[in-house]
Amino acid sequence: MNDMQGVPAIALSAVLKKSSSLPKNKEIVKGYDFNDGVDYRALLESYKTSGFQASNFGLAVEEIKKMIVRRQQPLSTEDVLETDPFIRRKYHCTIFLGYTSNMASSGVRDTIRFLVQHNMVDCIVTSAGGIEEDLIKCFAPTLLGDFSLDGAQLRDSGYNRIGNLIVPNKNYCQFEDWVMPILDKLLEEQKSKNIIWSPSKICTRLGEEISNPDSICYWAAKNEIPIFSPALTDGSLGDMIYFHGYRNPGLIIDIAQDIKRINSIAVKAENSGMIIIGGGVSKHHICNANLMRNGADYAVYINTANEFDGSDSGARPDEAVSWGKIKKTATPVKVYAEASLVFPLIVGQTFASVFHAEKSNLKHELS
Ligand SMILES: NC(=O)c1ccc[n+]([C@@H]2O[C@H](COP(=O)([O-])OP(=O)(O)OC[C@H]3O[C@@H](n4cnc5c(N)ncnc54)[C@H](O)[C@@H]3O)[C@@H](O)[C@H]2O)c1
Repeated sequence: MNDMQGVPAIALSAVLKKSSSLPKNKEIVKGYDFNDGVDYRALLESYKTSGFQASNFGLAVEEIKKMIVRRQQPLSTEDVLETDPFIRRKYHCTIFLGYTSNMASSGVRDTIRFLVQHNMVDCIVTSAGGIEEDLIKCFAPTLLGDFSLDGAQLRDSGYNRIGNLIVPNKNYCQFEDWVMPILDKLLEEQKSKNIIWSPSKICTRLGEEISNPDSICYWAAKNEIPIFSPALTDGSLGDMIYFHGYRNPGLIIDIAQDIKRINSIAVKAENSGMIIIGGGVSKHHICNANLMRNGADYAVYINTANEFDGSDSGARPDEAVSWGKIKKTATPVKVYAEASLVFPLIVGQTFASVFHAEKSNLKHELS
């Protein structure tokens, strides 16, 4: 203490202020030690104690594991009276998956397709591009480009840019050739069979027609998983519906049916989990449906949006708690991250690990 002679007491007490006793059960911050080799599973498991968004990643993995455990438990009551197989309660936890259109444009489409193919989610909400980009990829590929490609030059060459991806305009022309006769059939069935189509029923029909196992819509139709898209016309599908209205007018698309369908799924759910990638309609539509049951039991948001502008996209889970869209007792997680980086990793640590462990008859540690 002699070394401190002459140091002003106020500075000493300010800098060396004593801590009160440490809270118990606090985890110690620790990262991955590469001396242990390059083990990606161990690396991702170490994220939880690393801090910042790595810790939120770890918490999101835990939250999704809770949804999976709940979903594996038997239903308390069979939903025997429900005649619509797409909204019938099938599992003890109903998992809602929401994603923005660009997820279907990117390689995340293949991660989502895996989840839908293996019946790991129960209800999907996406924006129009989330449907058409999935279908268009069945005709022609989306290509890697660059964020800095010149817009005017791309326009002259007939290429469209989505971030650093490129979609040749001819892909949309191929989509038009495929979808127009389907719109004709929908209109014909509306007239002859009195079918009133809704966005979710159109998504199922497109999934039945596409007959390509690379597609999310294909598996959703096959596995009776509904895809909701309340703004179905805000994309290439809307362009096609617009042109179709001149060529063969009269098609009605009823969004009122769909709000009843998605809200019924939430109301029926014995437990409910939300996994929402990005913001906008896909995020809010799922949260709003969960308001009908006084909140989801589990929630994971993955997005880059912030709350300072008051946007719903940026709203943290706690804002949804205030509205009754997430339960007060829930432990929701928001991962602030670009989803193409983190969503496949989250699926790798949760759904995919469980799937492959079960396939090889290994017991997977879900707790
Ligand atoms: N490929 C496309 O993006 C595409 C194609 C056709 C039509 N559209 C239409 O554009 C409209 C707007 O698209 P949208 O509602 O799907 O969402 P959006 O692209 O406007 O994104 C909404 C918010 O989600 C978050 N977000 C988006 N991408 C993210 C990512 N990679 N990682 C983390 N967070 C992310 C951001 O906060 C963003 O502000 C929709 O009506 C859609 O149909 C989009």
